Amino acid sequence: MTESAAFKSGRHFLQIPGPSNIPDRVLRAMSKPTADHRGPEFAALTLSILDRIKMVFQTSSPVLMFPSSGTGAWEAALVNTLSPGDRVLAFETGNFATLWCNVAKRLGIDVDWVEGDWRHGVDPAVVETKLAEDPNGEIKAVLVVHNETSTGITNGIAAIRQAIDNAKHPALLMVDGISSVGSIDLRHDEWGVDVTICCSQKGLMLPPGIGINVVSDKALANSQSAGFAKSYWDWAPVIKMNEKGFYPYTPPTNLLYGMDAALDMLLEEGIANVFARHHRLAEATRTAVFAWGLEFCPLNPSEYSDSLTAVWMPDGHDADELRKLILDRFDMSLGTGLGKVKGRVFRIGHLGDLNDLTLAGTLCGVEMGLGLAGVPHKKGGVDVALQYLASTSAE
Ligand SMILES: Cc1ncc(COP(=O)(O)O)c(C=O)c1O
Repeated sequence: MTESAAFKSGRHFLQIPGPSNIPDRVLRAMSKPTADHRGPEFAALTLSILDRIKMVFQTSSPVLMFPSSGTGAWEAALVNTLSPGDRVLAFETGNFATLWCNVAKRLGIDVDWVEGDWRHGVDPAVVETKLAEDPNGEIKAVLVVHNETSTGITNGIAAIRQAIDNAKHPALLMVDGISSVGSIDLRHDEWGVDVTICCSQKGLMLPPGIGINVVSDKALANSQSAGFAKSYWDWAPVIKMNEKGFYPYTPPTNLLYGMDAALDMLLEEGIANVFARHHRLAEATRTAVFAWGLEFCPLNPSEYSDSLTAVWMPDGHDADELRKLILDRFDMSLGTGLGKVKGRVFRIGHLGDLNDLTLAGTLCGVEMGLGLAGVPHKKGGVDVALQYLASTSAE
């Protein structure tokens, strides 16, 4: 009998920074038979989700869900608050900031683009200077990616809010929380965010398919006079129908069953504990990378992300070759380098449904891969990470 290599036993390690692993409890919830989305049971489910999800965003503002990916949620935020030709301020922190900028440009928005090197986050002093140079308030919005998934950089939203306030500027603050919400502290209300953009497939532990906008009073007021033509993305009918638990389109029914279970899990753990867990697992990952003697993509340690670690490859070594070897040998997917850092970085996702042993397995796979691929590094990263995990606790 010939042996087949087609089946791989054991669970695939999905350690990309999203889509993240879907917990069994969520998978089971999604396997329920589909119900009538215009019936009373579904309306009750929607009302309960829209109420509980506010705790994840730390807001009392409306949370709107579209059947879409995160890209759709970017577009929804822009077309509901702005008019063609409006100016916005945006920062080149990496691939996702660049893609969001491109969405804005294609819509006819004038983007004041602050170039960056993909290794540093947004400097709040630059935000303040740019806004102070705009006394007539021509800049209508500041666009920031909270956690740049391509580079593993987390931007300081509270400091950026402060910079906008210091400049006494009326611009809206729009924050992409796609790879931070449910993993890294993001306080929509306290930090005066006007639109938080999110989607389902990262910290919320769901498959892709739900795009989210959280909308402040100021953003809502802007939406009354925003000049973009829109239909599907229009907030107004969503808000109106959501009041009774319905939608102006067919909602992604089974994803919402999953959302119901995922919210239960996040709230049972406690949202502060969820952030603490991500921080601790990120610290363990960083101790390993540091011990391997490898560089981080972010150059400023205060900007290290708690939902992923982007590792900078030594010169002459291709990150994608390492990733391929690790996938072939150990059945683990790591995140590829995107855009300008293609081949230069690989990304270890540590967000969503994971614990100490998931991370330990992940780091073992990376260390074995580094050795087999001949990437120069020091041994022992896994050892120090295990010591860190054993000597710290989740509480
Ligand atoms: C920070 C960030 N913004 C936006 C997106 C785009 O979302 P989507 O691919 O769901 O359209 C992603 C996707 O990974 C992301 O990480």
